[in-house]
Amino acid sequence: MNSKILSVAMAAVFCTFNATAQQAPTADQVVSALEKLSGVHPGERRNHIIGICVGGSFVGTKDVQAFTRSALFSGATIPVIGRFSLAGGNPKAPDATKNPRGLALQFKLPGNSIHHFTMLNVPVFGAATPQTFYNALLSNMADPATGKPDPEKQKQFRETHPDAKPLGEFMAKNNPPVSYANIDFFSIHTFKFINANNQTTLVRWHFVPEDGVKRLTDAEMGMMPARFLDDDLIAKTKKGPVRWNMMLTIGQDSDVQTNPTIYWPAERKTIQAGVLTLTSATLQKGADCEKINFDPLVMADGIAPTDDPILQFRSPSYAASFVKRLTGN
Ligand code: HEM
Repeated sequence: MNSKILSVAMAAVFCTFNATAQQAPTADQVVSALEKLSGVHPGERRNHIIGICVGGSFVGTKDVQAFTRSALFSGATIPVIGRFSLAGGNPKAPDATKNPRGLALQFKLPGNSIHHFTMLNVPVFGAATPQTFYNALLSNMADPATGKPDPEKQKQFRETHPDAKPLGEFMAKNNPPVSYANIDFFSIHTFKFINANNQTTLVRWHFVPEDGVKRLTDAEMGMMPARFLDDDLIAKTKKGPVRWNMMLTIGQDSDVQTNPTIYWPAERKTIQAGVLTLTSATLQKGADCEKINFDPLVMADGIAPTDDPILQFRSPSYAASFVKRLTGN
């Protein structure tokens, strides 16, 4: 091959490689990376694999109707199926693992419509784009030589992805909870509330446990039984209801809409928006929540998504995981 042909061929190879490296990941690629990281566990979720089903109801505060016409805030009692979970795809991870916890809620609204809130117990997410989320997974893959993630790759990831920093700082300062009944959960994303006059208000929300937020000490983290969170919630709901207050933060048009790694100004007005009451907890195998896809874009009239690229990417990712687990893969 003469040198001109060689350099054209090399340029073509380089361009192809470069285009691949820069191309945003697809949902299938991200789900495959989750599988590579934690293994494939047939019939199970590819993320948040550990979980427990809960049942109860939600009563919204009527004052919120000034911001949204959603039936969630009619003042009526709305049946809820939910699932608490631990982020990650390892079915053997102990409950004391320092990972975010999830709370997914499916509200059954009148007229057979449903609405989902799928939240985490952290105020911000660790990625502003699917690319950062994907790169985080790649940086945590086990090095074949050691069987463990390469600390150098993890360091490089942190240095090149400043959008992962706010969550990293929060996680470093906050231990896991003593009980699911003592965790607060955040919408993280910004959503749009649309009222009867078609006026839109930007909002974020926060579910605050009636019994307060309580965390394990460093010493306690090493002593807890593997599934202590499940055992505790089953026992607590047998004794009586467990409650959370939904607090709604009213945003301004200038507030960040599309980046879930950025906090809103602390002085934004917050109002009481409703009460979640959970009355039962059941191990997930065969229970109501097991086969639900808690896609956060399942929404009824009166609440709409923003163009947050992470929020938009969650839907196809959950669908990819859902199809696999429903078909026994
Ligand atoms: C690029 C971003 C994200 C990706 C790719 C992703 C991916 C996934 C996948 C594949 C599942 C399993 C779905 C299933 O099989 O049903 C899942 C579950 C879950 N995710 Fe995400 N996620 C992302 C961001 C988030 C964010 C921002 C939150 C919270 C605001 C969140 C909260 C949850 C929760 C609570 C569950 C468990 C839902 C359940 O109990 O079924 N995720 N995620």
